[in-house]
Amino acid sequence: MNKELLSRNKSLFTAFTRSFIVHAAIKTNMLERIYEMVPTLDELKELYPNFAMLETFLSILEKLELIKYNGERYSLTDSGLLFTDRAVLSLKAPADFAMNEGVLSWMKLPDAILNGEIPFKLAFGKEPFEYFSDNEEAFGRFSNSMSQSTKRKSIYNIFQNIDFENVNTVLDVGCGDGRLLREIRNINNDFNLIGFDLPYVINNARRIEENKTLKFLEGSFFEDEIPSADIYILSRVLHDWNDEKSGIILQNIIKAMHKESRLLIIDKVLNNKEDNLDTLLSHLNVWIMCGGRERSYEEFKSLFEQQGLQISNFSVFENFGLFELTL
Ligand SMILES: C[S@@+](CC[C@H](N)C(=O)[O-])C[C@H]1O[C@@H](n2cnc3c(N)ncnc32)[C@H](O)[C@@H]1O
Repeated sequence: MNKELLSRNKSLFTAFTRSFIVHAAIKTNMLERIYEMVPTLDELKELYPNFAMLETFLSILEKLELIKYNGERYSLTDSGLLFTDRAVLSLKAPADFAMNEGVLSWMKLPDAILNGEIPFKLAFGKEPFEYFSDNEEAFGRFSNSMSQSTKRKSIYNIFQNIDFENVNTVLDVGCGDGRLLREIRNINNDFNLIGFDLPYVINNARRIEENKTLKFLEGSFFEDEIPSADIYILSRVLHDWNDEKSGIILQNIIKAMHKESRLLIIDKVLNNKEDNLDTLLSHLNVWIMCGGRERSYEEFKSLFEQQGLQISNFSVFENFGLFELTL
């Protein structure tokens, strides 16, 4: 048997060990401490006296290029810094969510393949947004992870092609913690900015909104009336839902739109055959976590047209697409 093939296949099922190394280094605050203290090995031994494999663990972190050692002291690399709270574009929150709710859901993939259920639901007994409503820790991990990734996308790039003339009210439907609205406020302070989301999400958004110029409304985009606005935003919402449910959300927004209103959709856009492995895995991840799906341009177009919406503008930034829709 070809040795290379054996070793390649082995790495396919041992890849998880790297994820758990990162997880442990984050959860034990080891990376934060190495950043703060630039410690010696003895200092680290004092901090982690019960860990018999400390030196091996540190060598692994070094091989993963998360830390470096100068023969005397350990320090963080730029890559290690990204898993701490110090980095503006920190990956700590997404890693935390992935290594908790993510891992437990992915464990259910075999059952889901055989029985057609959504893995998250098999793991937690409920759909995610219902589960988060009475599990504060899980909700915190999800919300921080979403918020952090909004921060990583430059809002200037997202909105550079949108004409904001004559716009008074912007309504972010499924606004999460309000991060996108805060980013919009940084560009233009004159808009009436409103966030709409489920009650427990809005409670959290209100709690962290310090300067109080954002308004927040509680409700469900499936059942409740959505207020009138000049611009509606659905950012990473449609990918959580199948076409039928997405159609209900869109119809509910259409009911509230006036003739000049525009609806902006921000979501990943698939390229089908050209998608790389990471994109395909993240596509599958959306289904695993909530039964939703990323869509190609053609799939979005057909979804919008079925609901009577026209695409008036489409642009791509990083791997996200921005659709501007009108009635
Ligand atoms: C994937 S998150 C996206 C959050 C935010 N728009 C962003 O881009 O970071 C989906 C959002 O939809 C919200 N949501 C889920 N079900 C909802 C419902 N029935 N009514 C209103 N919002 C809902 C969730 O609470 C969550 O904030």
